[in-house]
Amino acid sequence: MNKFKEGFLWGGGLAAHQCEGAYNIGGKGLSIADVKNVEVNGVAREYTDGLLDGVYYPSHDAIDFYHNYKEDLALFHEMGFKCLRTSIAWTRIYPNGDELEPNAEGLQFYREFFEECKRLNIELIITLFHADTPFYMYKTYGSWSNKKYIECFERYAKTVISEYKGLVKYWLTFNEINGLPYLPGQSLNSVRDNKSDLYQAAHNQLVCSAIAVKYAHEIDKDCKVGCMLLYPTAYAYSCSPEDNFELMKFKQGMNFFADCHVHGKYTPNMLKILENANAKIEVTEEEKEILLAGKVDYIAFSYYNSTVRGSSPEQLKATGGNIIRGIKNPYLPSTSWGWQIDPIGLRIGLNELYDKYQLPLMIVENGLGAEDVVNENGEIIDDYRIDYLRQHISAIGDAICEDGVDVIAYTSWGPIDIVSAGTGQMSKRYGYIYVDRDNEGNGTMKRSKKKSFDWYKHVIETNGREL
Ligand code: BG6
Repeated sequence: MNKFKEGFLWGGGLAAHQCEGAYNIGGKGLSIADVKNVEVNGVAREYTDGLLDGVYYPSHDAIDFYHNYKEDLALFHEMGFKCLRTSIAWTRIYPNGDELEPNAEGLQFYREFFEECKRLNIELIITLFHADTPFYMYKTYGSWSNKKYIECFERYAKTVISEYKGLVKYWLTFNEINGLPYLPGQSLNSVRDNKSDLYQAAHNQLVCSAIAVKYAHEIDKDCKVGCMLLYPTAYAYSCSPEDNFELMKFKQGMNFFADCHVHGKYTPNMLKILENANAKIEVTEEEKEILLAGKVDYIAFSYYNSTVRGSSPEQLKATGGNIIRGIKNPYLPSTSWGWQIDPIGLRIGLNELYDKYQLPLMIVENGLGAEDVVNENGEIIDDYRIDYLRQHISAIGDAICEDGVDVIAYTSWGPIDIVSAGTGQMSKRYGYIYVDRDNEGNGTMKRSKKKSFDWYKHVIETNGREL
């Protein structure tokens, strides 16, 4: 028996600023992702105040998907992709973010790209916002806590949702929206310690998300709109009540955004989180109505690793993980970046989310970031990646079949190598397709298939039956 339903959406996931390049082509404006340098010798990457001479910015060329998308899509098609997740760069459509009229060239770029996907029968899952606030907006209006963002984002979201009606079936609003408290870059100068600013930014994004959901439902009966969460399954450090209490609090914090996306309002627990943080935010009656009218159709999430929570704060810095650091789990192996590999954790996460929200789920990011080596025959034998993916896909199959979870899509992260969001490196690769490009921007950009290319092709061909 096949664990994956007929029509299951197999594919891969990208983000505009990590693949497109062409950062100033076609009328595109600068985004905050374009002023982010690269990690060198363990010094974390950071945003610079505008473009500085002599600094290398990996998003500027990325893998030049902007000019190569037809060739890259042909490779995805060869693998049998049923879907592709990527994002629209707000700054291609509204270069500064606050214009009244969209940039026609930007609209045309995505139109041609999306039409090519349609021709190849690749269903689109499009993220409206993936950590690339227009730089002009940030300089002019500050962080997302400014309500000006709602007005501008509404214009942008409505423009693209109506423009690509019929081409895009699945929309996602904000990438890893619940990462905001951990990753102030999502909102940039929303300071972590200023809880009012932080939760106002969160509220504004939730309102923006609901506006997009409501509008998409109004104009297109066939499309579905989901939220997108960061969801590292979390374990308690020990069976002590204190550690488990800490775990519960962590989970409630992680679910803050999904609760609102699903229920369309601030739940009692969310209100307590605000109160306990002493966060004072402005929520209008009109916004409450929008939240209620903009409930999501499905939940998408990223999963790379699980995490461990404990009651002692010093423990939290012990190991890495996607966005959130946690305690080292002695039962799990880690990637070279310290992310703890845990396929059962994915099955647990799927169960937790489905039990809690009972909405269809999409895993829109999962994969192994690894340094690949091209051997003397020009091949990349990435058995480690195949192992990681095999175990995770198998866990998804079990969640569907043994636990009754409704999973509708799997898009592994970076099916073609792209710039790492965390470090800016090219050497942290996730792809089935290798791109000849290094951390300093050298290389031919030539694409070549890794061993995992044929493996994933076979997984899709057999609808997940043969891993
Ligand atoms: C997620 C982001 O947090 O993790 C992606 O949505 C990112 O943009 C991915 O690329 C993997 O992280 P990294 O740092 O390995 O690129």
